[in-house]
Amino acid sequence: MNRRRFLGLGASVLGAGALAAVTVPAAARLLAEGRPGRLLSSDLALPEPFQVPLPVPAVLQPVRTDGTTDYYEITQQVAKLEILPGVRTEAWTYGGTFPGPTVVTRSGRAAVVKHRNELPVATVVHLHGGHTPADSDGYPIDLLLPVGSSGAGADQGMSGMPGMQHATGNTVTGERTHTYPGNQRAATLWYHDHRMGFTGPAIWRGLAGFHLVHDDEENALPLPKGERDLPLMLADRAFAADGSFHYPATDAALAVPGVTDDYMNGVLGDVILVNGAPWPRLDVDRARYRLRVLNASNARLYRLELDPQPSGGDALVQIGSDGGLLAAPVTHDALEIAPAERFDLVVDFSRYAPGTSVRLVNRFGSGRTAEVMRFDVSSRQVSDDSTVPDKLSAVEALDASAAVATRHFRFRRSRDDGWTINDDPYQPGRDLARPALGSIERWRFSTDLHHPVHVHLNPFQVLTRNGRDPGPYDAGWKDTVDLWPAEVAEVLVRFTDYRGTYLLHCHNLEHEDMAMMADFTVQ
Ligand code: C2O
Ligand code: CU
Ligand code: CU
Repeated sequence: MNRRRFLGLGASVLGAGALAAVTVPAAARLLAEGRPGRLLSSDLALPEPFQVPLPVPAVLQPVRTDGTTDYYEITQQVAKLEILPGVRTEAWTYGGTFPGPTVVTRSGRAAVVKHRNELPVATVVHLHGGHTPADSDGYPIDLLLPVGSSGAGADQGMSGMPGMQHATGNTVTGERTHTYPGNQRAATLWYHDHRMGFTGPAIWRGLAGFHLVHDDEENALPLPKGERDLPLMLADRAFAADGSFHYPATDAALAVPGVTDDYMNGVLGDVILVNGAPWPRLDVDRARYRLRVLNASNARLYRLELDPQPSGGDALVQIGSDGGLLAAPVTHDALEIAPAERFDLVVDFSRYAPGTSVRLVNRFGSGRTAEVMRFDVSSRQVSDDSTVPDKLSAVEALDASAAVATRHFRFRRSRDDGWTINDDPYQPGRDLARPALGSIERWRFSTDLHHPVHVHLNPFQVLTRNGRDPGPYDAGWKDTVDLWPAEVAEVLVRFTDYRGTYLLHCHNLEHEDMAMMADFTVQ
Protein backbone atom coordinates (compact mmCIF):
# COMPACT_ATOMS: atom_id res chain seq x y z
CA MET A 1 0.00 0.00 0.00
CA ASN A 2 1.55 3.29 -0.95
CA ARG A 3 1.08 6.58 0.85
CA ARG A 4 -1.55 7.84 -1.51
CA ARG A 5 -3.69 4.74 -1.05
CA PHE A 6 -3.03 5.13 2.61
CA LEU A 7 -4.43 8.63 2.59
CA GLY A 8 -7.53 7.31 0.95
CA LEU A 9 -6.93 9.04 -2.35
CA GLY A 10 -7.94 7.02 -5.36
CA ALA A 11 -5.95 7.47 -8.54
CA SER A 12 -9.16 8.43 -10.30
CA VAL A 13 -9.41 11.74 -8.54
CA LEU A 14 -5.79 12.69 -8.98
CA GLY A 15 -3.97 13.82 -12.06
CA ALA A 16 -1.10 11.61 -13.18
CA GLY A 17 1.37 14.21 -11.93
CA ALA A 18 0.13 13.67 -8.43
CA LEU A 19 1.20 10.06 -8.49
CA ALA A 20 4.92 10.68 -8.28
CA ALA A 21 6.74 8.07 -6.26
CA VAL A 22 6.77 8.69 -2.53
CA THR A 23 9.67 7.26 -0.64
CA VAL A 24 9.40 5.93 2.88
CA PRO A 25 11.62 7.90 5.26
CA ALA A 26 13.80 5.83 7.53
CA ALA A 27 11.76 4.93 10.58
CA ALA A 28 14.98 4.75 12.53
CA ARG A 29 15.60 8.43 12.00
CA LEU A 30 12.19 9.32 13.34
CA LEU A 31 12.50 6.95 16.27
CA ALA A 32 15.68 8.70 17.30
CA GLU A 33 13.78 11.93 17.88
CA GLY A 34 12.10 12.26 21.24
CA ARG A 35 10.36 15.41 20.15
CA PRO A 36 8.46 15.55 16.90
CA GLY A 37 9.01 17.61 13.84
CA ARG A 38 11.63 19.05 11.57
CA LEU A 39 12.72 22.66 11.37
CA LEU A 40 11.71 24.59 8.27
CA SER A 41 13.86 27.71 7.99
CA SER A 42 12.65 31.06 6.73
CA ASP A 43 14.11 32.48 3.53
CA LEU A 44 14.34 36.04 4.80
CA ALA A 45 16.17 37.84 7.58
CA LEU A 46 14.47 37.41 10.92
CA PRO A 47 13.79 40.43 13.13
CA GLU A 48 15.51 41.00 16.44
CA PRO A 49 13.48 39.66 19.36
CA PHE A 50 11.49 41.82 21.77
CA GLN A 51 10.98 44.76 19.37
CA VAL A 52 7.25 44.61 18.76
CA PRO A 53 4.57 45.06 21.43
CA LEU A 54 2.42 42.06 22.31
CA PRO A 55 -0.88 42.37 20.43
CA VAL A 56 -4.06 41.25 22.13
CA PRO A 57 -6.75 40.02 19.74
CA ALA A 58 -9.89 42.16 19.68
CA VAL A 59 -12.99 40.80 21.40
CA LEU A 60 -15.76 40.07 18.90
CA GLN A 61 -18.99 41.95 19.56
CA PRO A 62 -22.27 40.13 18.99
CA VAL A 63 -24.35 41.37 16.05
CA ARG A 64 -27.42 40.87 18.21
CA THR A 65 -28.44 39.33 21.45
CA ASP A 66 -31.65 38.07 23.02
CA GLY A 67 -32.79 36.51 26.30
CA THR A 68 -30.87 33.24 25.79
CA THR A 69 -28.40 33.70 22.96
CA ASP A 70 -25.65 35.91 21.57
CA TYR A 71 -25.22 35.97 17.78
CA TYR A 72 -21.86 36.47 16.11
CA GLU A 73 -20.62 36.68 12.54
CA ILE A 74 -17.15 35.95 11.26
CA THR A 75 -15.95 36.33 7.68
CA GLN A 76 -13.11 34.06 6.66
CA GLN A 77 -11.00 36.13 4.34
CA VAL A 78 -7.58 36.64 2.86
CA ALA A 79 -5.73 39.50 4.53
CA LYS A 80 -2.33 41.08 4.03
CA LEU A 81 -0.76 41.28 7.44
CA GLU A 82 2.48 42.77 8.72
CA ILE A 83 3.70 39.93 10.92
CA LEU A 84 7.43 40.48 10.49
CA PRO A 85 8.20 44.22 10.64
CA GLY A 86 8.20 45.69 7.12
CA VAL A 87 7.13 42.40 5.50
CA ARG A 88 3.69 41.71 4.00
CA THR A 89 2.29 38.26 4.55
CA GLU A 90 -0.87 37.02 2.91
CA ALA A 91 -2.84 35.12 5.53
CA TRP A 92 -6.07 33.16 5.71
CA THR A 93 -7.94 34.79 8.54
CA TYR A 94 -11.04 34.86 10.66
CA GLY A 95 -12.21 38.45 10.29
CA GLY A 96 -9.01 39.85 8.82
CA THR A 97 -6.66 39.27 11.75
CA PHE A 98 -4.35 36.55 13.05
CA PRO A 99 -5.26 35.38 15.64
CA GLY A 100 -8.91 35.83 14.78
CA PRO A 101 -11.15 37.87 17.08
CA THR A 102 -11.68 36.45 20.56
CA VAL A 103 -15.19 35.19 21.15
CA VAL A 104 -16.19 35.69 24.79
CA THR A 105 -19.28 33.86 25.99
CA ARG A 106 -21.12 33.16 29.23
CA SER A 107 -21.73 29.68 30.53
CA GLY A 108 -25.48 29.00 30.37
CA ARG A 109 -26.00 31.29 27.35
CA ALA A 110 -25.90 29.98 23.81
CA ALA A 111 -23.54 31.46 21.25
CA VAL A 112 -24.50 31.21 17.59
CA VAL A 113 -21.61 31.93 15.24
CA LYS A 114 -22.22 32.37 11.53
CA HIS A 115 -19.14 31.85 9.41
CA ARG A 116 -18.94 33.20 5.87
CA ASN A 117 -16.21 31.75 3.66
CA GLU A 118 -14.58 34.27 1.34
CA LEU A 119 -11.33 32.28 1.15
CA PRO A 120 -10.20 30.47 -1.99
CA VAL A 121 -10.58 27.07 -0.27
CA ALA A 122 -13.20 25.00 1.51
CA THR A 123 -13.05 25.23 5.29
CA VAL A 124 -14.45 23.56 8.41
CA VAL A 125 -14.71 25.36 11.77
CA HIS A 126 -14.17 23.45 15.02
CA LEU A 127 -14.47 24.88 18.52
CA HIS A 128 -11.72 23.05 20.38
CA GLY A 129 -12.86 22.27 23.91
CA GLY A 130 -16.45 23.06 23.02
CA HIS A 131 -19.22 20.86 24.36
CA THR A 132 -21.00 20.98 21.04
CA PRO A 133 -23.79 19.11 19.24
CA ALA A 134 -22.34 16.99 16.43
CA ASP A 135 -23.81 19.05 13.59
CA SER A 136 -21.99 22.17 14.85
CA ASP A 137 -18.73 20.49 15.90
CA GLY A 138 -16.91 20.77 12.60
CA TYR A 139 -16.81 17.23 11.29
CA PRO A 140 -13.89 17.27 8.85
CA ILE A 141 -15.92 16.61 5.71
CA ASP A 142 -18.76 18.98 6.60
CA LEU A 143 -17.28 21.46 4.19
CA LEU A 144 -18.07 25.14 3.99
CA LEU A 145 -17.40 25.97 0.35
CA PRO A 146 -16.38 29.50 -0.62
CA VAL A 147 -19.08 32.04 -1.41
CA GLY A 148 -20.11 31.73 -5.03
CA SER A 149 -18.52 28.34 -5.65
CA SER A 150 -20.64 25.78 -7.41
CA GLY A 151 -20.55 22.04 -7.76
CA ALA A 152 -17.61 19.93 -8.89
CA GLY A 153 -14.15 21.26 -8.33
CA ALA A 154 -15.20 23.55 -5.54
CA ASP A 155 -14.85 20.72 -3.06
CA GLN A 156 -11.15 20.26 -3.75
CA GLY A 157 -11.73 16.93 -5.47
CA MET A 158 -12.74 15.25 -2.24
CA SER A 159 -16.14 13.95 -3.27
CA GLY A 160 -14.57 11.32 -5.48
CA MET A 161 -12.36 9.91 -2.72
CA PRO A 162 -13.00 6.41 -1.45
CA GLY A 163 -14.86 6.45 1.83
CA MET A 164 -16.05 9.98 1.21
CA GLN A 165 -19.72 9.20 0.77
CA HIS A 166 -20.54 11.91 3.30
CA ALA A 167 -18.47 14.45 1.45
CA THR A 168 -21.45 16.09 -0.08
CA GLY A 169 -23.79 15.19 2.78
CA ASN A 170 -23.40 18.20 5.00
CA THR A 171 -21.52 20.46 2.66
CA VAL A 172 -22.83 23.99 2.27
CA THR A 173 -21.79 26.97 0.21
CA GLY A 174 -21.03 30.45 1.49
CA GLU A 175 -22.20 30.44 5.09
CA ARG A 176 -22.64 28.01 7.95
CA THR A 177 -24.08 28.66 11.39
CA HIS A 178 -22.59 26.87 14.40
CA THR A 179 -24.59 26.67 17.61
CA TYR A 180 -22.66 26.43 20.88
CA PRO A 181 -25.22 25.83 23.66
CA GLY A 182 -22.87 27.08 26.40
CA ASN A 183 -23.58 24.13 28.64
CA GLN A 184 -20.02 24.05 30.01
CA ARG A 185 -17.89 25.68 32.70
CA ALA A 186 -15.54 28.62 32.29
CA ALA A 187 -12.52 27.66 30.21
CA THR A 188 -10.08 28.83 27.55
CA LEU A 189 -11.14 27.32 24.23
CA TRP A 190 -10.00 28.03 20.71
CA TYR A 191 -11.51 27.75 17.29
CA HIS A 192 -9.63 26.63 14.24
CA ASP A 193 -9.92 25.05 10.84
CA HIS A 194 -10.48 21.28 10.71
CA ARG A 195 -10.87 20.31 7.07
CA MET A 196 -9.93 16.71 6.43
CA GLY A 197 -6.36 16.44 5.23
CA PHE A 198 -5.67 20.20 5.34
CA THR A 199 -5.88 21.34 8.95
CA GLY A 200 -2.09 21.80 9.15
CA PRO A 201 -1.69 24.25 6.26
CA ALA A 202 -4.94 26.09 7.11
CA ILE A 203 -3.97 26.82 10.72
CA TRP A 204 -0.41 27.60 9.62
CA ARG A 205 -1.83 30.30 7.31
CA GLY A 206 -3.80 31.84 10.14
CA LEU A 207 -7.13 30.12 10.82
CA ALA A 208 -7.13 30.11 14.63
CA GLY A 209 -8.64 32.26 17.39
CA PHE A 210 -9.55 32.22 21.06
CA HIS A 211 -12.99 31.51 22.49
CA LEU A 212 -13.27 32.19 26.22
CA VAL A 213 -16.14 30.93 28.34
CA HIS A 214 -16.80 32.76 31.61
CA ASP A 215 -19.03 31.70 34.50
CA ASP A 216 -20.16 32.98 37.89
CA GLU A 217 -17.95 30.65 39.89
CA GLU A 218 -14.81 31.94 38.20
CA ASN A 219 -15.96 35.57 38.23
CA ALA A 220 -16.40 35.42 41.98
CA LEU A 221 -12.73 34.52 42.50
CA PRO A 222 -10.21 37.30 43.18
CA LEU A 223 -8.06 36.34 40.17
CA PRO A 224 -6.39 38.98 37.98
CA LYS A 225 -8.93 40.50 35.59
CA GLY A 226 -9.23 43.00 32.76
CA GLU A 227 -5.88 44.16 31.38
CA ARG A 228 -4.18 41.63 33.61
CA ASP A 229 -5.97 38.63 32.09
CA LEU A 230 -4.16 37.89 28.81
CA PRO A 231 -4.59 35.15 26.24
CA LEU A 232 -1.24 34.10 24.73
CA MET A 233 -1.35 32.08 21.53
CA LEU A 234 2.02 30.49 20.81
CA ALA A 235 2.62 29.48 17.21
CA ASP A 236 5.80 28.88 15.25
CA ARG A 237 5.94 29.73 11.56
CA ALA A 238 8.39 29.96 8.68
CA PHE A 239 8.35 32.59 5.94
CA ALA A 240 9.32 32.46 2.28
CA ALA A 241 11.48 35.14 0.69
CA ASP A 242 8.39 36.97 -0.61
CA GLY A 243 6.96 37.17 2.91
CA SER A 244 4.38 34.42 2.45
CA PHE A 245 3.99 31.61 4.95
CA HIS A 246 6.37 28.82 4.03
CA TYR A 247 4.87 25.32 4.40
CA PRO A 248 6.15 22.08 2.86
CA ALA A 249 2.83 20.90 1.39
CA THR A 250 3.04 17.97 -1.02
CA ASP A 251 0.85 19.99 -3.34
CA ALA A 252 1.13 23.78 -3.36
CA ALA A 253 -2.47 24.05 -4.60
CA LEU A 254 -3.60 22.07 -1.53
CA ALA A 255 -5.67 19.64 -3.53
CA VAL A 256 -3.65 16.69 -2.23
CA PRO A 257 -3.13 16.43 1.54
CA GLY A 258 0.14 15.91 3.32
CA VAL A 259 3.63 17.30 3.51
CA THR A 260 6.85 16.28 1.83
CA ASP A 261 8.52 13.25 3.36
CA ASP A 262 11.05 15.07 5.50
CA TYR A 263 8.22 16.77 7.37
CA MET A 264 6.01 13.72 7.94
CA ASN A 265 6.71 13.95 11.66
CA GLY A 266 5.62 17.57 11.91
CA VAL A 267 6.53 21.04 10.68
CA LEU A 268 8.48 23.37 12.98
CA GLY A 269 8.97 27.03 12.11
CA ASP A 270 11.97 29.19 13.04
CA VAL A 271 9.87 32.22 14.08
CA ILE A 272 8.00 32.12 17.38
CA LEU A 273 4.81 34.18 17.30
CA VAL A 274 2.78 35.17 20.32
CA ASN A 275 -0.66 36.44 19.37
CA GLY A 276 0.65 36.72 15.84
CA ALA A 277 3.72 38.84 16.63
CA PRO A 278 7.32 37.61 16.47
CA TRP A 279 9.00 37.44 19.90
CA PRO A 280 6.95 40.35 21.28
CA ARG A 281 7.46 42.33 24.47
CA LEU A 282 4.99 43.58 27.03
CA ASP A 283 5.25 46.21 29.77
CA VAL A 284 3.81 44.73 32.94
CA ASP A 285 2.97 46.21 36.32
CA ARG A 286 4.46 44.78 39.47
CA ALA A 287 1.28 42.77 39.95
CA ARG A 288 -0.28 39.40 39.26
CA TYR A 289 -1.22 38.52 35.70
CA ARG A 290 -3.35 35.70 34.44
CA LEU A 291 -1.79 34.21 31.31
CA ARG A 292 -3.98 31.85 29.30
CA VAL A 293 -1.32 30.03 27.32
CA LEU A 294 -2.40 28.13 24.21
CA ASN A 295 -0.02 26.16 22.04
CA ALA A 296 -1.49 26.65 18.56
CA SER A 297 1.63 25.33 16.83
CA ASN A 298 1.29 22.51 14.32
CA ALA A 299 3.86 20.25 15.95
CA ARG A 300 6.14 22.22 18.27
CA LEU A 301 6.37 21.27 21.91
CA TYR A 302 7.53 23.97 24.35
CA ARG A 303 9.08 23.81 27.78
CA LEU A 304 8.35 27.29 29.11
CA GLU A 305 10.26 28.99 31.86
CA LEU A 306 10.69 32.54 33.07
CA ASP A 307 14.29 33.75 32.95
CA PRO A 308 15.33 34.89 35.46
CA GLN A 309 13.24 32.86 37.84
CA PRO A 310 11.99 34.85 40.81
CA SER A 311 13.80 33.98 44.01
CA GLY A 312 12.09 31.05 45.64
CA GLY A 313 11.02 29.58 42.28
CA ASP A 314 7.52 28.33 41.50
CA ALA A 315 7.04 31.25 39.11
CA LEU A 316 4.17 29.65 37.23
CA VAL A 317 1.05 29.11 39.32
CA GLN A 318 -1.29 26.93 37.30
CA ILE A 319 -4.93 27.64 38.05
CA GLY A 320 -6.57 25.97 35.09
CA SER A 321 -6.21 23.40 32.36
CA ASP A 322 -7.91 22.75 29.01
CA GLY A 323 -11.30 22.31 30.68
CA GLY A 324 -11.20 25.21 33.15
CA LEU A 325 -10.22 25.77 36.77
CA LEU A 326 -8.29 23.20 38.77
CA ALA A 327 -9.53 22.26 42.24
CA ALA A 328 -6.44 23.93 43.70
CA PRO A 329 -3.43 25.72 42.20
CA VAL A 330 -0.37 23.73 41.13
CA THR A 331 2.99 25.48 40.99
CA HIS A 332 5.68 24.91 38.39
CA ASP A 333 9.15 26.20 37.60
CA ALA A 334 8.70 25.01 34.02
CA LEU A 335 5.71 24.11 31.94
CA GLU A 336 5.63 21.64 29.06
CA ILE A 337 2.87 22.41 26.59
CA ALA A 338 2.03 20.34 23.53
CA PRO A 339 -0.04 21.38 20.51
CA ALA A 340 -3.65 22.36 21.40
CA GLU A 341 -3.11 22.28 25.17
CA ARG A 342 -4.05 25.29 27.31
CA PHE A 343 -2.56 26.18 30.66
CA ASP A 344 -4.10 28.95 32.69
CA LEU A 345 -1.32 30.54 34.76
CA VAL A 346 -0.92 33.32 37.28
CA VAL A 347 2.46 35.04 37.36
CA ASP A 348 3.22 37.58 40.08
CA PHE A 349 5.58 40.17 38.60
CA SER A 350 5.82 41.94 41.98
CA ARG A 351 8.29 39.19 42.83
CA TYR A 352 10.74 40.97 40.51
CA ALA A 353 12.63 44.17 41.18
CA PRO A 354 11.33 47.21 39.27
CA GLY A 355 12.88 47.44 35.82
CA THR A 356 13.64 43.71 35.47
CA SER A 357 13.33 42.23 32.00
CA VAL A 358 11.89 38.74 32.28
CA ARG A 359 12.12 36.49 29.24
CA LEU A 360 9.68 33.69 28.61
CA VAL A 361 11.98 31.03 27.19
CA ASN A 362 11.49 27.65 25.56
CA ARG A 363 13.97 25.12 26.93
CA PHE A 364 13.04 22.70 24.13
CA GLY A 365 14.11 25.23 21.52
CA SER A 366 17.58 26.22 20.39
CA GLY A 367 18.88 29.52 19.10
CA ARG A 368 15.96 31.74 18.13
CA THR A 369 13.31 29.13 18.93
CA ALA A 370 14.51 29.12 22.54
CA GLU A 371 13.04 32.64 22.93
CA VAL A 372 9.30 33.30 23.16
CA MET A 373 8.62 36.81 24.50
CA ARG A 374 9.74 39.30 27.14
CA PHE A 375 7.95 40.98 30.02
CA ASP A 376 9.41 44.33 31.13
CA VAL A 377 8.51 44.95 34.75
CA SER A 378 7.66 48.60 35.33
CA SER A 379 8.89 50.57 38.27
CA ARG A 380 5.71 52.46 38.96
CA GLN A 381 3.77 51.72 42.10
CA VAL A 382 0.45 50.00 41.44
CA SER A 383 -2.23 48.41 43.54
CA ASP A 384 -3.15 44.77 43.09
CA ASP A 385 -5.98 43.25 45.05
CA SER A 386 -5.89 39.95 43.18
CA THR A 387 -4.93 36.71 44.90
CA VAL A 388 -4.85 33.03 44.03
CA PRO A 389 -7.15 31.24 46.46
CA ASP A 390 -6.04 27.86 47.83
CA LYS A 391 -9.32 26.42 46.69
CA LEU A 392 -10.38 27.34 43.16
CA SER A 393 -13.27 25.11 42.20
CA ALA A 394 -15.17 22.00 43.19
CA VAL A 395 -13.88 19.53 40.60
CA GLU A 396 -15.64 16.19 40.65
CA ALA A 397 -13.22 13.29 40.32
CA LEU A 398 -14.60 10.70 37.90
CA ASP A 399 -14.80 7.26 39.48
CA ALA A 400 -12.72 4.64 37.66
CA SER A 401 -14.88 1.84 39.02
CA ALA A 402 -17.87 3.39 37.28
CA ALA A 403 -16.28 2.90 33.84
CA VAL A 404 -18.44 0.55 31.79
CA ALA A 405 -15.83 -0.14 29.11
CA THR A 406 -12.09 0.00 28.59
CA ARG A 407 -10.86 0.77 25.10
CA HIS A 408 -7.32 0.85 23.79
CA PHE A 409 -6.24 3.28 21.08
CA ARG A 410 -2.75 2.77 19.70
CA PHE A 411 -1.24 5.84 18.00
CA ARG A 412 1.42 4.62 15.62
CA ARG A 413 3.18 5.22 12.40
CA SER A 414 2.34 2.51 9.90
CA ARG A 415 4.83 0.51 7.91
CA ASP A 416 3.14 1.94 4.85
CA ASP A 417 4.11 5.52 5.51
CA GLY A 418 1.26 7.19 7.27
CA TRP A 419 -0.11 7.69 10.74
CA THR A 420 -2.72 5.41 12.25
CA ILE A 421 -4.92 4.72 15.26
CA ASN A 422 -5.27 0.96 15.88
CA ASP A 423 -3.49 0.40 12.57
CA ASP A 424 -6.13 2.18 10.50
CA PRO A 425 -5.83 5.50 8.70
CA TYR A 426 -8.78 7.83 9.12
CA GLN A 427 -11.89 6.96 7.22
CA PRO A 428 -14.99 9.10 7.80
CA GLY A 429 -17.94 7.02 8.87
CA ARG A 430 -15.93 4.22 10.49
CA ASP A 431 -16.35 4.28 14.27
CA LEU A 432 -13.58 3.11 16.55
CA ALA A 433 -15.92 3.31 19.56
CA ARG A 434 -19.62 3.65 20.29
CA PRO A 435 -19.98 4.80 23.87
CA ALA A 436 -23.44 5.09 25.38
CA LEU A 437 -24.76 8.53 26.24
CA GLY A 438 -24.30 9.17 29.96
CA SER A 439 -21.69 6.44 30.47
CA ILE A 440 -18.13 6.70 31.74
CA GLU A 441 -15.41 4.86 29.84
CA ARG A 442 -11.72 4.25 30.43
CA TRP A 443 -9.72 5.05 27.31
CA ARG A 444 -6.12 3.91 27.11
CA PHE A 445 -3.85 5.71 24.66
CA SER A 446 -0.45 4.32 23.73
CA THR A 447 2.21 5.64 21.41
CA ASP A 448 5.22 4.74 19.33
CA LEU A 449 6.50 8.29 18.82
CA HIS A 450 5.35 11.54 20.38
CA HIS A 451 1.60 12.21 20.01
CA PRO A 452 -0.66 14.80 21.71
CA VAL A 453 -4.03 13.00 21.81
CA HIS A 454 -7.26 15.02 21.62
CA VAL A 455 -10.88 13.93 22.15
CA HIS A 456 -13.84 16.03 21.01
CA LEU A 457 -17.14 16.59 22.88
CA ASN A 458 -16.21 15.93 26.51
CA PRO A 459 -13.12 16.66 28.56
CA PHE A 460 -11.46 13.79 30.39
CA GLN A 461 -9.39 13.19 33.51
CA VAL A 462 -6.01 11.48 33.36
CA LEU A 463 -6.12 8.43 35.61
CA THR A 464 -2.67 6.94 35.08
CA ARG A 465 0.45 7.59 33.06
CA ASN A 466 2.65 4.56 32.37
CA GLY A 467 0.81 2.69 35.11
CA ARG A 468 1.60 5.33 37.71
CA ASP A 469 0.09 8.57 38.87
CA PRO A 470 -0.62 11.30 36.31
CA GLY A 471 2.25 13.61 35.41
CA PRO A 472 2.84 17.21 36.52
CA TYR A 473 0.93 18.64 33.54
CA ASP A 474 -2.03 16.26 33.65
CA ALA A 475 -4.10 17.94 36.37
CA GLY A 476 -7.77 18.81 36.02
CA TRP A 477 -10.13 18.47 33.08
CA LYS A 478 -8.12 17.92 29.91
CA ASP A 479 -9.14 17.55 26.28
CA THR A 480 -5.62 16.94 25.00
CA VAL A 481 -3.06 14.73 26.69
CA ASP A 482 0.54 14.75 25.55
CA LEU A 483 2.20 11.37 25.22
CA TRP A 484 5.91 10.92 24.71
CA PRO A 485 7.31 7.99 22.72
CA ALA A 486 6.25 4.59 24.05
CA GLU A 487 3.99 5.97 26.73
CA VAL A 488 0.55 4.87 27.82
CA ALA A 489 -2.03 7.03 29.52
CA GLU A 490 -5.43 6.04 30.79
CA VAL A 491 -8.15 8.65 30.92
CA LEU A 492 -11.75 8.64 32.13
CA VAL A 493 -14.35 10.23 29.87
CA ARG A 494 -18.03 10.75 30.54
CA PHE A 495 -20.15 11.19 27.43
CA THR A 496 -22.83 13.75 28.11
CA ASP A 497 -25.71 15.58 26.44
CA TYR A 498 -25.19 14.93 22.75
CA ARG A 499 -25.45 11.85 20.58
CA GLY A 500 -23.66 11.70 17.28
CA THR A 501 -20.30 11.27 15.61
CA TYR A 502 -17.21 12.99 16.96
CA LEU A 503 -13.46 12.77 16.54
CA LEU A 504 -10.47 11.53 18.39
CA HIS A 505 -7.10 12.37 16.89
CA CYS A 506 -3.49 13.32 17.26
CA HIS A 507 -3.14 17.11 17.43
CA ASN A 508 0.24 17.13 15.76
CA LEU A 509 -1.41 18.59 12.67
CA GLU A 510 0.82 16.82 10.19
CA HIS A 511 -0.04 13.51 11.85
CA GLU A 512 -3.72 14.45 11.90
CA ASP A 513 -3.73 15.40 8.22
CA MET A 514 -1.93 12.21 7.34
CA ALA A 515 -4.76 10.18 8.82
CA MET A 516 -4.11 9.84 12.58
CA MET A 517 -7.76 10.42 13.38
CA ALA A 518 -10.85 8.32 14.12
CA ASP A 519 -14.59 8.69 14.58
CA PHE A 520 -16.51 7.67 17.66
CA THR A 521 -20.27 7.81 17.91
CA VAL A 522 -22.14 8.51 21.11
CA GLN A 523 -25.38 6.60 21.07
CU1 C2O B 1 -8.23 21.26 18.00
CU2 C2O B 1 -10.17 18.08 16.44
O1 C2O B 1 -9.17 19.67 17.16
CU1 CU C 1 -11.37 19.61 19.40
CU1 CU D 1 0.85 12.24 16.42
